[in-house]
Parts: sequence; structure tokens; C-alpha cells
Amino acid sequence: MAIIRVQKGTKDILPCDMPVWHFMEDKAREIFTSYGAKEIRTPIFEATELFARGVGDTTDIVNKEMYTFEKSERSLTLRPENTAGVVRSFIENGMHRLSAPVKLWYKGPMFRYERPQAGRQRQFHQVGVEVFGIKQAAADAEVILMAVNYLKALGLNDLSVELNSLGCPECREVFKTKLKEVIKPYLPQLCPDCQARYEKNPLRLLDCKVEECKEIYAKPEIQAVIQSDFICENCANHFNELKCYLNALNINYSINKLLVRGLDYYNRTVFEIKSNNLGSQNAVCGGGRYDSLVKNLGGEDTPAIGFAMGMERLASLIGQKEDERTTAFVVSNNTLEAIRLTEELRADGISAEFDLTNKKFVKQLEKASKVAKFALILGEDEIAAGKVTVKNLDTSEQKTVSREEAKKFFT
Ligand code: HAM
Repeated sequence: MAIIRVQKGTKDILPCDMPVWHFMEDKAREIFTSYGAKEIRTPIFEATELFARGVGDTTDIVNKEMYTFEKSERSLTLRPENTAGVVRSFIENGMHRLSAPVKLWYKGPMFRYERPQAGRQRQFHQVGVEVFGIKQAAADAEVILMAVNYLKALGLNDLSVELNSLGCPECREVFKTKLKEVIKPYLPQLCPDCQARYEKNPLRLLDCKVEECKEIYAKPEIQAVIQSDFICENCANHFNELKCYLNALNINYSINKLLVRGLDYYNRTVFEIKSNNLGSQNAVCGGGRYDSLVKNLGGEDTPAIGFAMGMERLASLIGQKEDERTTAFVVSNNTLEAIRLTEELRADGISAEFDLTNKKFVKQLEKASKVAKFALILGEDEIAAGKVTVKNLDTSEQKTVSREEAKKFFT
């Protein structure tokens, strides 16, 4: 019979991959908790409308990439990202009443119907942070620090932080009008996607990957608009303050005026962290400020900023981590005694196994040396004397001791 294979764009995370995933998850909990963030877990599917209104109905994510289905005449969507879901939960649970800042972190699977390639999947995982209630640039600096320090804790170097300010809706409108004006003469030469973006979402023109479009946008009159400091005084002050904090804290960054992000909710600060060791899908982290989203989704007016990182991309940079061996393997031909001792060890928090098939002693020892750090040998003599022989499987040293003493080897 034909075997059923894993779906295109999805992957099993196998037991041998787990040490890296546990490492990423443990470090996330450790680092984000040290900043006062609390973990939140929101459902994997939400009302489709949440993403249409939250992420924006002119984005590729909402237009082309959502896994949407109907149940009981409701349109539901597997979450393509988690900011909208966290904002929904923030509003629904009245978290604006908590003292600001409210800092939340999450991890979990996201779903986007994209063309799979190295570093791009249809089911992938994100770890992210959202901080609510602070409009000052100190929050932007702290959120960037959280991202940078998390990546450092994972041992990742060779990363670059790119920064831009998209201004507020008012100054951005002026910029969009100017941009459309200079691009208008070239409109017929643009790719179909850019032609659609021109009307619906002109900022997205800037990160088109089509060579012909990129050449057009490189023209001096268009570059003059793109590189201009279009943001208003308030937005410029906010951005300058953030840059001052980052400079003083020795966070290296570069300004990328083409950084516009693929989601519609951003204003002012946007940032990405890229790896120099990944292929074309080199963004490990994307984030920014989204001061209008809480209000747009029906909540109290609450400024917010956050980021998310692709965990598969992080995992591929971290590489292999040593597989955790079981601490103890009980070697005995007396199955009942083996179960008893194994259970005693487990009750003391020591990971332990024994041979369920009661193989020959030597075979059990061989197995122990493959999966465990210590063999706990329970031969007839040991059982009669209420003792156990502890063998260190790395050094081959062994010692016969009482069961109580044996436990001390591992704690
Ligand atoms: P995003 O830039 O769409 O932002 O995704 C963040 C990160 O998720 C990317 O930098 C990348 O590492 C990873 N990622 C995205 N799509 C895929 C994919 N198809 N396969 C593998 N990895 C992927 C957001 O999702 C925003 N919610 C971030 C945010 C939080 N902004 C404010 N708060």
C-alpha cells in the first residue's frame, strides 16, 4: 500500500531535533521572563475577520496565503501570525486594565500558504513578544534588546539589525502621494503585483523582488523620494530617541529605507534581524510598532510594539545539539527488581530505563552504553545484599554501593 507522506511545506520535528527546540524554548522562557514578560497561548484558529482587519486585506498574507475554512457557517483561519491573536486576547481579557507595560511572549505553529523553499515552510513556528501600553521610544529600545539578547543567548552571531521608521498615518500619506507621483510614469512597466500595490498599498512597492521593478525604483528621482526624510517632527524625534538608546547601548544597526514589512499594522519603528548565514530567506526576526491595532480591533487606544522570530530558521543556525542521554539504565535479569529500582529513581527525578525484554546481561549492558550515562547493575549478589553496582559508562569506573548512595551519583 502507498505510504502517506508529510504535506508539502510541513516537516516533522523528530526526537533527534528536540534538543535544539528545547534549547530555543528554554532560552525564550529564561530571557523573556527576565524582562518581565509572561507567556500567553492563544488558539491556532481564529475568525478570518481578525486577520483581514488585523494584518490587513491588501497584504499577501491575507490575500494569498491564509488557510481558511468554514465550519457552522463561520469563516475560520489557521493563524498566519500571532500578533492579531494576542491583541484579540489582550482586548477580550481586559488586559488594558493591568498596569502598563503588559509584556507577553509566545511560541507556536503558524500557517502560510507560501511556495516552500529553504527556510520557508507552510507550517512554521514563531517565538515572539508583544509589549502593550508604552508609546515612548524606550519601549522600542527594550523590545529590540530582548530580541538581540535572545539571539545572543542562542549563541548566534553574524546577525544584522535593520531599522526604519514608517512614520504615522499622517506623514505616511504625504510620502505615499509623493511616491505614487514619481512612479506613475513607469506604471505600465511594473510587474502585475506592483501594479495592484500601486493603488492599494504603495509602500509595499519598495520591497518588490522582481529585477525589472527594482531597476525602476533605483532611478534617481524615485530614490530621492525613498531616501527623503519624510516623517513628521514627532515621528522623527521618536526615531532619533530610539537611535540614541541603541547607540548608547552598543547595539549595531543600519537604517534601511526599503524596510516596509509585509503586514499593514505598523507605524513608526519597524525592524528586522537578518543572518548572514542563511540563503534568500535570511530574516530571522521581524517586528515593529503597531499603535493603532488594539483600537482598530475594538479595544481601548493602546500603543504596542513587538517582534516574532522563525524558529526553523533559528534551528538551522544553531545546528546540532548533543542528544540528552537517559541518566541511568538498570541492568538486571530480575525484571521486577529492575522495575522497582527504575521507578524509585524516577520518583527522585532521575531519568531511568530498564530492559523491557529481559535480554542477556551483556546485551543489556551494550544497550545501556548507547542510551545512558550510567548503568546500574542489579545481579543476584547485589539484590541479595540490597546493593547496586554503579558503572559510569563514559569512564567505565564502577562501584558497588547501597541504593541510597547510588542516587547521590546523579544529584
Ligand atoms: P513576519 O516578518 O511575517 O512578522 O514573521 C516573523 C518571522 O517569522 C520572519 O522573520 C521569519 O523568520 C519567520 N517566518 C515568516 N514566514 C515564514 C515561513 N513561511 N517559513 C518559515 N519562517 C517564516 C510577523 O509575523 C509579525 N507578527 C511580527 C510582529 C510581532 N510584529 C509585531 N509583533
